[in-house]
Amino acid sequence: MPVDKLPRDLKKAPAIASNLLAWFARAARDLPWRRTRDPYAIWVSEIMLQQTQVKTVIPYWERWMQALPTIEAAAAAPADQIHKLWEGLGYYTRVRNLQKAAQAIVVQHGGRFPEAFDEVLALPGIGRYTAGAICSIAFNQPTPILDGNVIRVLTRLFAIAENPKDKTTNTHLWTLATQLVQQAVASSPRAPSLAPRAQILPPKAQSPEPRASFLNQSLMELGALICTPRQPQCLLCPVQSECAAFRQQRTEELPNLGERATSTARAFMAFVMTSRGEIFIRQRPAGVVNAHLWEFPNVEITGPTPDPSLVFRGLFDVKPPALKPLSIVKHSITRYRITLTAYQATLSRRPSNLPGKWVKLDRLQELAFTAAHKRLATAAVKSILSGR
Ligand code: ADE
Repeated sequence: MPVDKLPRDLKKAPAIASNLLAWFARAARDLPWRRTRDPYAIWVSEIMLQQTQVKTVIPYWERWMQALPTIEAAAAAPADQIHKLWEGLGYYTRVRNLQKAAQAIVVQHGGRFPEAFDEVLALPGIGRYTAGAICSIAFNQPTPILDGNVIRVLTRLFAIAENPKDKTTNTHLWTLATQLVQQAVASSPRAPSLAPRAQILPPKAQSPEPRASFLNQSLMELGALICTPRQPQCLLCPVQSECAAFRQQRTEELPNLGERATSTARAFMAFVMTSRGEIFIRQRPAGVVNAHLWEFPNVEITGPTPDPSLVFRGLFDVKPPALKPLSIVKHSITRYRITLTAYQATLSRRPSNLPGKWVKLDRLQELAFTAAHKRLATAAVKSILSGR
């Protein structure tokens, strides 16, 4: 976007900000992290909400806040506990960074969440978006946010056809996000009250109204509820009259995200071994995807599907027992479509020196498994308990 277009764009910032604030007061969802101004609670919600939908996050956030209600508690929690609390959310680097950052806050800030944007940004796992979200929502600072939802809203409002990942376009989008949040703070109060429905925020937060917080949340909310990727609800949109894409009938074309990465099929073969009422699992090492999570021994299969007995012998270096097909789990993660074919074996003698451990069936639920292997564990327990 050429810089000489900027001033014209910005003329509509006051109208957009004021319409968004009025709409947010009416339409904001009552989400549990909107009932607090605790920066720690807001931070946890923002990390969980990266790549994960609101309805999935709600029970995870509630369990996390119940189990680890303070920064100190998060800093001191055992690795097993934080992974178990995150089990199923995926992208586990997020939870390890969350703990590293909690530990840094304890050491560097005496356990108090820092308020300065640069200090927030310096914490592990906190980028420009998350620092902006925390500083605006918890501290009402006019710090901009730009994530997938906000990119969609802004590229449509301003009919920006360039790819938002391109550097100049991205810079331009951050400028627009900054202008909007600053405009919200600068605008004079107007009736009716801009505070969202009373139950969402504690009363002390409502006077004076935290406009930077509400403006940023209104952008997220508009992207989630109205300005959706497909079939946006333009007829219900509070900023329809300011929307260049609506006027030009180009909402469906925007944002221009370029070519999607094609997905790749990958196949794995896994073995669920049982012996004397216990089941064998192993832990994924540090530094690999899904590090620290538990799984059943498995290998990736490239080329034609091999005889499972040969694969078993290759993995464990023992004579294969009878292998029963257990389950085929299909699972998509990032750009991979994974098919996991699992066999079950009851062993009369345990191979020695296997990397992993034998656990009682009723202890499995205490451990964090990768998503696909969690499904295998459930299938295995059902099969074992039904005696098949
Ligand atoms: N997506 C990212 N942050 C969010 C928030 N605070 N509320 C709702 N959706 C979000």
